[in-house]
Amino acid sequence: MKILITGGAGFIGSHVVRLFVNKYPNYTIHNLDKLTYAGNLANLTDIEKKPNYKFVKGDIVDASFINSLFEKEKYNAVIHLAAESHVDRSITNPLEFVMTNVIGTVNLLNAYKKSGVYSQTAPLSLGEGRGGEAALFYHVSTDEVYGALGETGMFTEETSYDPHSPYSASKASSDHFVRAYYDTYKLPVVISNCSNNYGPNHFPEKLIPLCIHNIKNNKPLPIYGKGENVRDWLFVKDHAVAIDTIFHQAKLGSTYNIGGHNEWTNIDVIRLLCKVMDKKLNRPDGTNEKLITFVKDRAGHDLRYAIDATKLKNDLGWVPSVTFEQGLDQTVDWYLQNSEWLDNVTSGNYAKYYEEQYVKR
Ligand code: NAD
Ligand code: DAU
Repeated sequence: MKILITGGAGFIGSHVVRLFVNKYPNYTIHNLDKLTYAGNLANLTDIEKKPNYKFVKGDIVDASFINSLFEKEKYNAVIHLAAESHVDRSITNPLEFVMTNVIGTVNLLNAYKKSGVYSQTAPLSLGEGRGGEAALFYHVSTDEVYGALGETGMFTEETSYDPHSPYSASKASSDHFVRAYYDTYKLPVVISNCSNNYGPNHFPEKLIPLCIHNIKNNKPLPIYGKGENVRDWLFVKDHAVAIDTIFHQAKLGSTYNIGGHNEWTNIDVIRLLCKVMDKKLNRPDGTNEKLITFVKDRAGHDLRYAIDATKLKNDLGWVPSVTFEQGLDQTVDWYLQNSEWLDNVTSGNYAKYYEEQYVKR
């Protein structure tokens, strides 16, 4: 079984690659990544020499490269995570999000369809849900496609799409293409829509790692608007386990929501983080909270996300394994123990790792 994981050098992708490489030594895992500012091979040093792992540098927007890769490698399955993922960047440069998230996804769908592998794959015992079919195009998406909630209610798999940011519009569009390839060409697909992740290896432009970095360096913690927006936080390793579960057991053509039942206003998340880091950095209680600074709100800022993950729990038995407090504790420890990773990422030096490991040899 040869699986292509796209975006495997990024935050969530690196946790998915690690899980699959370690848990399934009989699978061959190829990690295709362009290594944009968000891709970092230093996320994968512990598994890069494993015999069932290979890194492939490439751009999913480059159709001829993608077609030749699929022609050559005949991937049985794809787990597609590569994307431009930051909402604020999508507000300043929407076209880049159209290119990677929409065109890149359609290029992968076309190449997988053309390779024809999915209709020829011999059944492997991969779980009951698909009758053991190994062929799959698994598209990893976001809860932001559903738009914003008011003070009550939750997103279910039946909620209509209503994206508001260029990022979520591009992800919604890619979801529609994946669904269209199932309906039109019978391509074997599944989609999952997950809430906000946090954990090790998160690029420090996103709220939690940005604030960990700033607290460490005594810098202001920028909170958009009044900090009243609500997000539903899930530990990244729990997301990777959910992806493994869905990959092996979901019915073809299905969609699963993934979430932590863990809603927090932004200001409460940052207050909790400040408390945790007061202790860990031996600072008097209340020191870090003084760094909180309210700044101009994000344009079109979605008020609230909340995922109803009942279907995933009832159908496939997945539930998160850690509480937010446990996950946040582990996350802060990871950042404090990996100062070099954080320094390299914030200084831009991390690209050197690729040069040293893959180019100069
Ligand atoms: P990330 O930005 O950390 O990583 C994205 C990866 O994709 C990087 O390694 C980058 O180099 C690679 N990439 C970008 N453009 C590429 C291209 N044109 N060709 C090949 N590789 C390219 O993102 P993430 O937070 O790990 O998110 C991964 C996926 O999960 C995305 O599809 C995102 O929409 C989705 N998602 C993220 C979250 C979250 O909270 N982070 C939640 C739900 C869903
Ligand atoms: O819901 C899933 C999505 O979660 C993923 O699809 C996206 O890829 C991921 O980036 C994330 O999107 P958000 O916009 O919710 O994440 P971000 O960390 O950028 O922001 C979280 C909340 O914090 C949001 O309400 C905006 C706010 N925020 C963010 C930053 C970067 C601040 O108040 N200050 C900040 O500096």
